[in-house]
Amino acid sequence: MKEAIAQLPAGIRDRLSQAGRLADESGLDLYLVGGTVRDMLLGWSRTDIDLVVEGDGMGFGGRLARAAGGRCTPHPRFLTTTVDLPEGINMDVATARSETYERPGALPRVASAPMDVDLARRDFTINAMAVSLNERRFGDLVDPFNGRADLQKKRVRILHNGSFIDDPTRLFRAVRFEQRLRFRLERGTERRFREAVAGGMVGNLSGPRLLEQLRLICVESDPWPIFERLERLGALSAIHPALASDEGLETLVREISRTGGPAPSTYDGWWILYLVALFRPRREETLQSVVDRLKPNRRLRRAIEDMSRWSRVEQAVESGAIETPADFCRAVRTISEDTMLFVTLTHPDEGMRRRCESYYHKHRHMRLSIDGGTLKDLGIPVGPEYGRILDEVLSMKINGEIGTADEERRAARDLWLRLHRPTH
Ligand code: CTP
Repeated sequence: MKEAIAQLPAGIRDRLSQAGRLADESGLDLYLVGGTVRDMLLGWSRTDIDLVVEGDGMGFGGRLARAAGGRCTPHPRFLTTTVDLPEGINMDVATARSETYERPGALPRVASAPMDVDLARRDFTINAMAVSLNERRFGDLVDPFNGRADLQKKRVRILHNGSFIDDPTRLFRAVRFEQRLRFRLERGTERRFREAVAGGMVGNLSGPRLLEQLRLICVESDPWPIFERLERLGALSAIHPALASDEGLETLVREISRTGGPAPSTYDGWWILYLVALFRPRREETLQSVVDRLKPNRRLRRAIEDMSRWSRVEQAVESGAIETPADFCRAVRTISEDTMLFVTLTHPDEGMRRRCESYYHKHRHMRLSIDGGTLKDLGIPVGPEYGRILDEVLSMKINGEIGTADEERRAARDLWLRLHRPTH
């Protein structure tokens, strides 16, 4: 494993050696574990590093943060501490632990345990390897379940037959890793997978835990193959019968991935767009029962529910009741940004898509350069008409009838004159 460590970026390598020395000084055994080891063996780089200490991991995490000039956040329920280092590397320092499940799908009860027990409670062989960081054994691989061989064979394999029953989130994790790494579920694992789904194990997961698994899928670089495979294995409709995937879903998910996907941007809701695609227009009662099952947070719930408000706007545009860009703006102004971005990216009709694009990228950001003070300077008496005049001027600007500040002033004065033109 020394070669794999040697290939890590120098900053990470130095931090690992520093942590190993600190563990020696503290008389503790320290290991790299889980996804960090898996990705290292695959030659993939990552900036979140998982460490396990045999002994007091939380105390060690604190010491490591102080020695490295980082910040530490303890999570006592899981016996872990997150250490954020100044250079942007995150180290999760955990106490080697056992996990027992009081009932299928419940969160595990954890207790401190030796390293071999910690590896044995993990999900898949490729995630159940450790690398020693103490100086004497620096770089030694601990691989009790032949994870390295499974990496070479490109397969995702559970450690024991009850794995999916203990923790059904692993059903979703299995497919996420399988598709991300372009691996295959090992035969016995696939059989246990299907048995767990048929046995109703997905039903043992709470809404928020399920939703978190869906969110993790949506932040992968290519979510579609994961949804598709879950569907073929029966796991998507096991969440709710209405969630079966279809061609429409494929088009939508691919369209969102093509346009942006989870790429860095100022918009932080890409994952929400995929879920809006998954939950898109269904009968109100069906939608309500999906929402009741998954208990989405306010933002996601609003994004989903606003799809029906959008449908009404869509009908109004089609019937000609909404014509100008300003009317469109007024109609969609209170629809969630996520919903509007979703329709902007995916609407099948080009005209409607362009309308949405103008709203999303341009019109909703438009502001006037005049305000109440300007109206006062123009000699318009202060009063309730100010709001109406400014609103009208903004509509004219959105409709492209005026552009400059001067034109805004002139339009405001004309509007006021018109409002007060003698009627006889
Ligand atoms: N793990 C597990 N069962 C779970 C969740 C996690 O056994 N239900 C273990 C696995 O060993 C996993 C490690 O905890 O590798 C860390 O979990 P997580 O950060 O979710 O997985 P990573 O493998 O680090 O995945 P990613 O590459 O997506 O960060």
